[in-house]
Amino acid sequence: MSEHSLLGLGGHSFIAPLGSDPEPPFEEQCRIVSACLDKGIRLIDTTYYQERVALGKVMQRIGRRAEIRLTAWPFFKQAGQENELVPHQPLEEGHLAIMLEELQTDFIDLLVIHCHDDREKLQRELALARRWMSEGSVKNTALGMAEPRHLQQLPAEHTVTHVLAPYNAFHRAAADTFAMAKDMGLETVAMSPFVRGWKLQEIQADKAANADVVADILLRWVAFQPSVNHVIVSMRREEWVQKNAKALARGPLTEREQAMLREWLG
Ligand SMILES: NC(=O)c1ccc[n+]([C@@H]2O[C@H](COP(=O)([O-])OP(=O)(O)OC[C@H]3O[C@@H](n4cnc5c(N)ncnc54)[C@H](OP(=O)(O)O)[C@@H]3O)[C@@H](O)[C@H]2O)c1
Repeated sequence: MSEHSLLGLGGHSFIAPLGSDPEPPFEEQCRIVSACLDKGIRLIDTTYYQERVALGKVMQRIGRRAEIRLTAWPFFKQAGQENELVPHQPLEEGHLAIMLEELQTDFIDLLVIHCHDDREKLQRELALARRWMSEGSVKNTALGMAEPRHLQQLPAEHTVTHVLAPYNAFHRAAADTFAMAKDMGLETVAMSPFVRGWKLQEIQADKAANADVVADILLRWVAFQPSVNHVIVSMRREEWVQKNAKALARGPLTEREQAMLREWLG
């Protein structure tokens, strides 16, 4: 997994809720994924089942499955709530087949176990993921929305290689988790650098700041935290792919940019 780039594409890019722009039409979804792959952005997250279905169709169309490092979370279709975003579920035996069918693939690169406080259940999910890995249908396992106590509870022998959590300049609670994960030799994936894009709009409006500059600074703040390996961003427009990739090429924030961020946060 570690060969993929700093930037990843968020699955909310394929759905309308939890963002600013409407759901991109299918042809635009194909262009967004292709643009990511062309730029070496190979990590593509899918959270809700609708995103798996969408990405599955895109992969069928563009035919670049081998380049993609696909992440899947345990959010499943519920009868009568097909158009809604439903809560996550603990992983069960039949779930892998459902995910693979929706994604139209035969393996998942990074299967995310969504953390919760039922320790025994979490151990069962880890055991299930380990079996799927031994069968070749799952390549790597991650803990999603992990907190330090979840990492402490991992058994001495486990297959977890990644930790995912929302982490951005406004919400830094994951800093301790990521630091601990790094100490344990795990890779970290920060999500939602723009808090679904809503913080971009807020700062633009409140501080009369340039939209591109705000996005650039918020993205680079999190991407260049020493404890962060990858950052996942939703991008419902192809132009965001170019802009975000270009921003990251600029490297860590300068002192002047850090001062601007402090002013926005204040
Ligand atoms: N936060 C969580 O709890 C959580 C949980 C599980 C998974 N995730 C994963 O994390 C991913 C990212 O999180 P997110 O979608 O919550 O928030 P986000 O990535 O912080 O924000 C996405 C928003 O930023 C806008 N945007 C992206 N690049 C931009 C740019 N250069 N200039 C201006 N606007 C830009 C997008 O606009 P458009 O609307 O135009 O695209 C979108 O509305 C999700 O897709 C999902 O895969 C997050």
